[in-house]
Amino acid sequence: MKLAQSFCLKLFFTLLLSHYCLSAHAEVDVDAAKALAKQSNCFRCHGVDKDKDGPAFTKSAAKFKADPKAAEKLLHHLTSGETAKFPDGHEEAHTILKVDDAKEMNNLIAWILSL
Ligand code: HEC
Repeated sequence: MKLAQSFCLKLFFTLLLSHYCLSAHAEVDVDAAKALAKQSNCFRCHGVDKDKDGPAFTKSAAKFKADPKAAEKLLHHLTSGETAKFPDGHEEAHTILKVDDAKEMNNLIAWILSL
C-alpha cells in the first residue's frame, strides 16, 4: 500500500513538472490572454480578425511574423503610450497596458503574435 502511494506521488510530480516545463516554454495560455485583453478594453478597438479603430490582431501577427524583434516592439507599443493613428485621422496616445505580472503581459503578446 505504502509503495503504491509513493509511486503515485512520484508519478504525479513528474507529470506536474513536465507540464510546468512545457508551458513555461512555448505554450500560450489563450484563455488568460483573451481575459486580459477583455479586461483591458483591447477589444473595444481591436477584433481578433476584424479591424475596428485599430487593426485586427491577426493583421498585426502577419505584420510582425518575420520580425525577430516582434515581441520587444509590441511590449514597447503596449507600455510606452506611443502615438496611435486612428482611421478618422486623429492621433492619441495608445492605451498603456498595466499588469502586475510580466508573465501575463508576455502571454498576451505571444497570443497576438500566434494568431
Ligand atoms: C482606444 C482604442 C484602442 C484601444 C483601447 C487599444 N488599441 Fe491597440 N491600437 C489602436 C489604434 C488606432 C492602433 C493603430 C496605431 C497606428 O497604426 O498608428 C493600434 C495598434 C495596435 C497594435 C499594432 C501595433 C503595430 O505596431 O502595428 C497592437 C498589437 C495593439 N494595438 C494592441 C492592443 C492591445 C493589446 C490593447 C489592449 C491593452 C489595445 N491595443 C488597446 C487603438 C486602440
